[in-house]
Amino acid sequence: MKTDLRTVRWAGAAIAVFAIVLTAFSVANLLPQEELKGKYDYKDFETSLKCRSCHPGIYEQWKQAMMSQSYTHHWDEIEYFDLAVPHAEVDPKMKDAVDGCNGCHTPLAYMGGTLPPPRPEENSMANEGVSCEVCHLTQRSQVDPPVNYSYYIEPGTTKHSGREPGIESPAHKIVQNDFFRTTEFCGNCHNEKNPYGIWVKSTQLEWKEGPYAEEGVRCQDCHMPEGPYQNAIMGTTHEDARLHLFHGAHDPGKVRGTIELRIEPDLRVAEPGETIHFKVALFNQKTGHKFPTGSVEDRIAWMHVEATDAGGNVYHIPVDKKGFEGEEYTISGDYLAYQDMGIPLRIDDFSGVQRDGIPHGNRIFRMPYFDEQGRMTIMQWNATSLGVDYRIGPRETKVEDLTFKVPYDAAPGKMVVRAVLNYQLLVKPVADFLKVPADESEIIFVNDHSTTVEILQ
Ligand code: HEC
Ligand code: HEC
Ligand code: HEC
Ligand code: HEC
Ligand code: HEC
Repeated sequence: MKTDLRTVRWAGAAIAVFAIVLTAFSVANLLPQEELKGKYDYKDFETSLKCRSCHPGIYEQWKQAMMSQSYTHHWDEIEYFDLAVPHAEVDPKMKDAVDGCNGCHTPLAYMGGTLPPPRPEENSMANEGVSCEVCHLTQRSQVDPPVNYSYYIEPGTTKHSGREPGIESPAHKIVQNDFFRTTEFCGNCHNEKNPYGIWVKSTQLEWKEGPYAEEGVRCQDCHMPEGPYQNAIMGTTHEDARLHLFHGAHDPGKVRGTIELRIEPDLRVAEPGETIHFKVALFNQKTGHKFPTGSVEDRIAWMHVEATDAGGNVYHIPVDKKGFEGEEYTISGDYLAYQDMGIPLRIDDFSGVQRDGIPHGNRIFRMPYFDEQGRMTIMQWNATSLGVDYRIGPRETKVEDLTFKVPYDAAPGKMVVRAVLNYQLLVKPVADFLKVPADESEIIFVNDHSTTVEILQ
């Protein structure tokens, strides 16, 4: 009898565990926005080109932003078609999450097309990406906090907008909707939970915790700045028009200067063989969320410090360890990672590629994502946990220490020590392995600062 009871208990426990796993996997299914999948037809929506006939300026701004390329951009195509779609074929429980990519990257295809949508070169409506219609048919968020394409959309000739209409439009009705002036509007797509319930994107939540939320400085204020502009050809110039710049990490000008650096030594005069300590302060003066944010699984910012002596010899100075948990992911080195790409690529026992692809010993500002086996992953949908968050928060200052023993053969005279902060959208070894166009992994200069030390004979 006893064993029977135990069996029953074990069975119960097994069912409970199974139920938990199921629940974890159906997070997305529980969201009301899942109902939008396939609810409409492409023909229910207008193309952005149609809006262009009366809103040419706004159209051209949007066209230059990533928002218009969210489906056609080559790295998106590679990750979706070479990793995500094949992953759902190997592992069908990923199917909903992989369909869900389109909920944010090509909402018209999600609501009105076939899944997976046609490839970009087939020029279907999927190429519209985050189009005029997607945003201007949005009425509200379906959940709080907004997450995973939680916009509520009804197609039609009524367009929603933040401002009271100036003049009537001959093409559509206009409804003033305060939702356009909230960050939740953006959070519908800029917050994301994956099938394991992990927050793999939380730009709006980061903003909400930071100083800008308290001050009422919203996403729109930095990414859709106000300026004098004629919104429509038959309209007038509004002094406070909202420019559709949506400039972010793919605009080197937006990234430049995000962090300010200052480096100082503890000794101004040193002899060869003597040890100098440096401190570097890195102050985030520009972003309303953490830096990096968004596709955190791909992005790194890293500090490189070099001393150049009077003779032109260059010495790389690695950062000192601080000793916090998970720190090994924040200092570059010789490690293999991203082995889970082998699942969709069907490579058995894939050994992975280099984790960082930058000079060793440098501080990296990042947050690693891990798969079930604890290996770092760039496949955010496959992440089961997040590692140490060593990114730079809005208006946060990080302070780094470096120790440098002046080499005996260093040339006497003025030694210049320069700290540089660089940024990469996608770690280079992954970009090279997946043949992602080079601009996605090129080194973007954020900022630098130099100081000097006098080296004695
Ligand atoms: C035939 C011309 C025409 C077309 C086509 C057109 N619009 Fe407009 N739209 C206007 C005019 C005129 C205004 C008013 C501009 C003003 O007040 O300065 C306007 C205003 C707007 C506004 C802002 C309303 C406000 O509060 O000022 C939005 C949003 C908008 N249009 C979206 C769209 C979208 C999306 C499309 C494409 C699906 C589109 N429009 C196509 C003429 C047009
Ligand atoms: C105080 C100004 C400011 C505010 C407020 C702000 N941002 Fe940004 N944002 C920036 C700057 C500067 C960058 C460029 C540096 C970077 O990539 O983080 C940026 C970058 C981004 C990026 C690209 C990040 C990446 O790594 O690809 C996204 C996406 C973004 N912002 C979305 C938002 C959203 C959504 C909100 C509101 C929840 C918001 N931003 C609020 C200043 C701001
Ligand atoms: C990612 C969402 C998004 C996309 C895409 C988008 N808009 Fe907007 N648009 C907004 C928001 C948000 C506002 C209002 C901001 C506010 O009131 O603070 C706005 C405002 C406008 C306005 C009124 C301008 C003003 O001064 O407030 C017009 C006109 C407009 N959009 C047209 C367009 C057209 C045309 C396109 C496509 C070429 C487009 N929008 C694409 C989000 C978007
Ligand atoms: C319907 C979904 C959706 C909404 C709503 C939305 N975005 Fe985006 N946004 C995206 C997607 C998808 C991308 C990524 C494009 C890419 O690189 O593939 C993106 C990219 C961006 C970028 C460019 C990041 C870069 O790397 O350069 C900025 C900035 C941005 N969004 C800001 C905003 C702001 C501000 C709002 C609110 C006014 C907003 N977005 C609303 C889906 C959305
Ligand atoms: C909740 C909305 C959402 C979902 C779901 C989503 N994404 Fe994204 N994705 C975004 C946004 C927003 C960005 C831009 C963030 C940033 O700028 O860092 C982005 C960025 C990306 C990028 C990087 C683009 C670049 O240019 O650097 C890739 C690749 C990508 N997504 C692929 C996918 C795939 C594949 C899936 C499905 C497994 C997916 N996304 C699901 C919203 C989403």
